Amino acid sequence: MQLQNDLLLKAARGEPTSRTPVWLMRQAGRIMPGYRRKRNQMKDFKHLLKTPDLAAEVTIEPVDLLGVDSAIIFSDILVVAEAMGLNYEMVEQKGPYFPKTIRNENDINTLRIAEPDSDLNYVYQAIRQTKSALNYRVPLIGFAGAPWTIFAYMVEGQGSKTFSNARKLLYQNPEFSHRLLEMITQSTIYYLEGQIRAGVNMIQIFDSWAGILSPDLYHDFSLKYVSKICDSITEVPVTVFAKGAFFSLESMAQLNCEVIGLDWNMDIHHSRQIIGPDKTLQGNLDPCALYGSMESIRRATKNMLDQFGPHRHIANLGHGVYPDTEFDKVKCFVDTVKEYSDVLSR
Ligand code: CP3
Repeated sequence: MQLQNDLLLKAARGEPTSRTPVWLMRQAGRIMPGYRRKRNQMKDFKHLLKTPDLAAEVTIEPVDLLGVDSAIIFSDILVVAEAMGLNYEMVEQKGPYFPKTIRNENDINTLRIAEPDSDLNYVYQAIRQTKSALNYRVPLIGFAGAPWTIFAYMVEGQGSKTFSNARKLLYQNPEFSHRLLEMITQSTIYYLEGQIRAGVNMIQIFDSWAGILSPDLYHDFSLKYVSKICDSITEVPVTVFAKGAFFSLESMAQLNCEVIGLDWNMDIHHSRQIIGPDKTLQGNLDPCALYGSMESIRRATKNMLDQFGPHRHIANLGHGVYPDTEFDKVKCFVDTVKEYSDVLSR
């Protein structure tokens, strides 16, 4: 069976499209009324994550209500840390918290390379159920965190503005850091292979904390491992989104991936110049633009589309949509991309 709407995959591969495809990072979350209802009922984020029926429903809701051109599987990047043996909790209003952290040889000896077929089977089950319920309407994106971003949480134990414990370790014990990054990388490669077998049509790598590293450290401790992951995926297109890594766009242009995600700090023309014509760009409206009036959202979205032009662009925000954004404003963004880019492509 063919996908009814394959704009995302065409744009990723650089094939001509009738208009610009659009989806939002973090679309399967608090902005959706059905998601909020479920979270209020069960309180426990991880229960939602580990119940494939519910995860599939949450994944499909934005396709039904927002009309986006892709679903992204409802899960979290931190499931890989847990599958390696490091448990975490999702604390209400605060974010992830790891009761134990990984900082020395003793700690790393408690970890294993993930065996996703058993450890993460609930994600694969959610993917299979989502695919079947989507019934070829739109593609499904699978994802994982970049090894550096997972490392940052495993070492720090929680969110942080600076992740200084994680960065400190790169200087104090580079060999140890590489060992942990290798373990995360191997676990992630197995995990993504399984997602592809379960049916995802595309993969996105989230390097949310790329921007806190110096260019040299980013190259040695992050990009190297992202590059290994890209090389391991041959069946579906791959997007690399490294938030804040404007300093590395030139190296990222060499990655074995089809799409580079831009955050809202990155200049669109400048980024295109550095990356060249052979990759698709994704992004990059400031998520805060969706707090503006409808008129200002339309203006900002059109301005973004004008700058990217009609080819090799996947419209998105420059980071995940903020959870308290009004649904109608998100819809306005999606509708504006669809209507305006249709005119542009003519
Ligand atoms: O994009 C989607 O809609 C798919 C689902 C998805 C979630 N997390 C669900 C989620 C994806 C792709 C992620 C990725 C993720 N998780 C990242 C990378 C992207 C980014 O935002 O930089 C990171 C860093 C995490 C780790 C994480 N998970 C944090 C820091 C938090 C708490 C703060 C926050 O941003 O909400 C989460 C929780 C989380 N993951 C929620 C959702 C829907 C919110 C849970 C809730 O409050 O109901």
